[in-house]
Amino acid sequence: MFKIILGILLAAAVIGGAIGGWHLWRVAQRNQAEMAPFQGPETPYTARLGKVLVIYYSWTGHTQDIAQRIAQRTQADLYRLETQEPISKTPWVHLTLKRQLDTQNYPAIQHPLPHISDYDTVFVGSPIWWYTAATPVLQFLQEMDFQGKKVVPFSTQGSNYGTFFEDFAARAQNAQLLKGASFNNLGPQYNAAVDNKITAWLNTLS
Ligand SMILES: Cc1cc2nc3c(=O)[nH]c(=O)nc-3n(C[C@H](O)[C@H](O)[C@H](O)COP(=O)(O)O)c2cc1C
Repeated sequence: MFKIILGILLAAAVIGGAIGGWHLWRVAQRNQAEMAPFQGPETPYTARLGKVLVIYYSWTGHTQDIAQRIAQRTQADLYRLETQEPISKTPWVHLTLKRQLDTQNYPAIQHPLPHISDYDTVFVGSPIWWYTAATPVLQFLQEMDFQGKKVVPFSTQGSNYGTFFEDFAARAQNAQLLKGASFNNLGPQYNAAVDNKITAWLNTLS
């Protein structure tokens, strides 16, 4: 009996590992194809976006990295959204965050929120959680009235941003939305290409 259970567990582990490996391989292939046009010399920055604010939430640093690169090019101010209670890294945290999404019970965020009236263009960045925006960003969107401002969403994710842009558009109150962009988490070999992707995208906005 013990041997049968062990055999089943081993088979499950092997099949799981093979599926995981195949998924990672496919994501790597897609990343390579997506980033190929951005390899090569540095893309010159030509956008004129006026006074820019980059608002973002980041739990593990990826969205912060993209936010900082956008801010560096656009000479923007940065505002990092923070939850009032830190999100604790329990082994079941993914399920906790899914529950927040399903029940629309989003975490309280710290105040004061930024004064967007001082800016011409406002970027809003979010990690993807379960194919949509992270719950602190959804909470922020509930509280913020963009008052006709130009608003540009961006996301970072492992590989699939799901319905982020549709969900963002449906919740960004009174925003004049400009074209957003999404960024898969990539290794350092893609650093220059990511810079070019950001610049090329920013150049399309003005
Ligand atoms: C709760 C949770 C759910 C996630 N869901 C997705 C997802 O649906 N699709 C995806 O590609 N990545 C998903 N990820 C990966 C994150 O989107 C990705 O690592 C992101 O860049 C993290 O941003 P941050 O480092 O700024 O927090 C998820 C991560 C967490 C913690």
